[in-house]
Amino acid sequence: MKITAISIFPDYFAPLKLSLIGKAIDNKQLEFSTVDLRDYAEGAHRSVDDTPYGGGAGMVMSPEPWGKAIDGLLDSSDTTIDLVILTPSGKKFNQPLAHELANSEHIVFACGRYEGIDSRVSDFYRDIPNVRVREISIGDYVLNGGEVAALVIIEAVTRLIPGVIGNPDSLLEESHNQIGQLEYPVYTKPAIWRDLAVPEVLISGNHGAIAKWRQEESKKRSHSQNSQDNPE
Ligand code: 6GU
Repeated sequence: MKITAISIFPDYFAPLKLSLIGKAIDNKQLEFSTVDLRDYAEGAHRSVDDTPYGGGAGMVMSPEPWGKAIDGLLDSSDTTIDLVILTPSGKKFNQPLAHELANSEHIVFACGRYEGIDSRVSDFYRDIPNVRVREISIGDYVLNGGEVAALVIIEAVTRLIPGVIGNPDSLLEESHNQIGQLEYPVYTKPAIWRDLAVPEVLISGNHGAIAKWRQEESKKRSHSQNSQDNPE
């Protein structure tokens, strides 16, 4: 899989060199690169934004540098690109969407800042063959830009690539379960810590009873699969 992040702050992606994702990059399971949007900005100030048509507060990112940056990536690729435009008004990111993106050959993250990217950018690339435009939000709150949202999605997606996650068993468990059913409490040694004992059933060796107990505990705690959370 190839991942490209277009941003005016490419340094945001430096942490990807750490941990499992960094290893996947070293092992060539994953190719990651950034594009500095400002390299495609013109003029003495290399400006990438302008005042909004219709008035209002804040600035809007100009379509021209985005078009050039994205065209540059399309020109050097003959595969289908998933163009992920990060915006708080996008479709809410969730685990099924992570699985869908995990099948992508090349994901391009367009990390907007300010009040967002001129809407014609998503309109234009929606009509381009070999581009799947996806406007995505990571939750109901406002961030200053899409970079952190892109990092969240990159972590959720890349751990689904075979060989990237440390323990494939946990992936298997996830694929057989809804996320909401994995939210049972977990314990490790020692059996008693500060007078607090591990639930007896977990030490019983009775696998049926353990599975039943976990299912019941998950039901009590489950929230991510509630209909309110994912109206789409
Ligand atoms: Cl993708 N971008 C911004 N700016 N804010 C967000 C978001 C994205 N998702 C949730 N809040």
